[in-house]
Amino acid sequence: MSFPLYAPAEEHEMLRETIRALSEEKIAPHAAEVDEAGEFPWDALKALVAADLHAVHIPEEYGGAGADALAAVIVIEEVARVCASSSLIPAVNKLGTVPLLLSASEELKRRYLPPVARGEAMFSYALSEPEAGSDAAAMRTRAVRDGDHYVLNGTKMWITNAGVSEFYTLMAVTDPSAGPRGISAFVVEKSDPGVTFGPKEKKLGIKGSPTRQVILDDVRIPATRLIGPEGTGFKTALATLDHTRITIAAQALGIAQGALDHAIHYVKQRKQFGKPIAEFQGLQFMIADMAMKLEAARQLTYAAAAKSDQAMHGPSAPDLTFFSSAAKCAASDAAMDITTDAVQLLGGYGYTRDYPLERMMRDAKITQIYEGTNQIQRMVMARQLLK
Ligand code: CAA
Ligand code: FAD
Repeated sequence: MSFPLYAPAEEHEMLRETIRALSEEKIAPHAAEVDEAGEFPWDALKALVAADLHAVHIPEEYGGAGADALAAVIVIEEVARVCASSSLIPAVNKLGTVPLLLSASEELKRRYLPPVARGEAMFSYALSEPEAGSDAAAMRTRAVRDGDHYVLNGTKMWITNAGVSEFYTLMAVTDPSAGPRGISAFVVEKSDPGVTFGPKEKKLGIKGSPTRQVILDDVRIPATRLIGPEGTGFKTALATLDHTRITIAAQALGIAQGALDHAIHYVKQRKQFGKPIAEFQGLQFMIADMAMKLEAARQLTYAAAAKSDQAMHGPSAPDLTFFSSAAKCAASDAAMDITTDAVQLLGGYGYTRDYPLERMMRDAKITQIYEGTNQIQRMVMARQLLK
């Protein structure tokens, strides 16, 4: 008998119980305040680090738990179910470090992964620029070799957890005549002289996660901080997104699950026309559709997570690029629909800050935009299908 690769094992279910309890006890109580104040969720970071759940994907040889992609998905899902901003702690730690796992020298991995595994440092990922978002290869940030060093100049835009993270995987142009093959990836440290951060962007949602420019002004770093050979940075950046778009799918699933759980609880309590509104078939059908969309997106995301593990550790997974774009696209579109319907199910109350639904709806929107907009995900899928 064969089992689907992505069926959660007993240990995944145990992990879910642990992270759900931690999220409800230590993260949920601060979620509204984190959103209102636009403050980084330090309590969530502390709780995740204490439980060793802030970066479960880091392999054991670098001091991590060596958990698989599905475990990382479950952690992010459960944190996002109560606080989307906090779920960017494990998600972005993964995004920042996967380039090292895929392409860096052993020396770089040994230097930079253990502090993240220990929870002493976080790692961000800097690809986008003011003029290069969807068209990431149009970046202008330059890295010029000077003896044993590179000198970096330019501005990276929209960098999640910028200023809070100690380390950055940062893509820059080393050969302007070579297009995408002239882009290289580097580790930049927050403390490198010449690194500064722009003001926090004023956003619709995920307000507890700082989004800032990373500005590089003659930043001189040792050449040993190059990730992989010169000219391979764009490939490393895109190969990374193949693994981490799945974490954004997980974030979307979590936000949607949180909204659905609240809405179900509410419709059973709220009475109109002399009975609980849950008895109206018009609302029952909405709830059925919400749960159906969520579960479909979840199954796709778990299947994509299994492909991610195959690609990282197993023989190969040629369809990972398709699956990770499909999971991110399906889960984020589902999250936007589900959170919007959840607000509707609460009527006027859903539109107020007395309930978390309006925050969940605002938070859901970003999952359709970052790690590649859903138009770009559809383009990536179509390219895979038509090649
Ligand atoms: N893995 C490895 N290499 C890949 C690849 C993949 N999945 N996809 C393409 N490549 C390689 C190609 O083979 C090609 O290499 P060669 O020239 O050696 O053959 C090179 O990369 C360039 O490929 P394309 O010609 O396909 O590149 P493109 O310029 O047309 O762009 C794109 C491709 C898919 C549009 C890409 O630019 C993209 O994904 N854009 C969206 C940007 C994005 O997702 N940004 C996310 C920022 S991070 C973020 O947002 C974080 C957060 O929210 C928390
Ligand atoms: P544009 O590329 O200008 O797109 C504008 C519109 O045009 C979109 O609807 C897009 O889908 C559409 N479009 C563009 N090209 C095409 C096409 N070929 N076909 C069809 N439609 C198209 N980046 C990082 O590197 N690191 C981070 O940590 C990070 N975190 C982020 C956090 C937040 C809160 C936000 C808002 C962004 C973050 N990003 C990060 C950047 C994010 O990945 C980009 O915003 C995204 O890729 C879109 O780029 P853009 O904003 O420049 O939009």
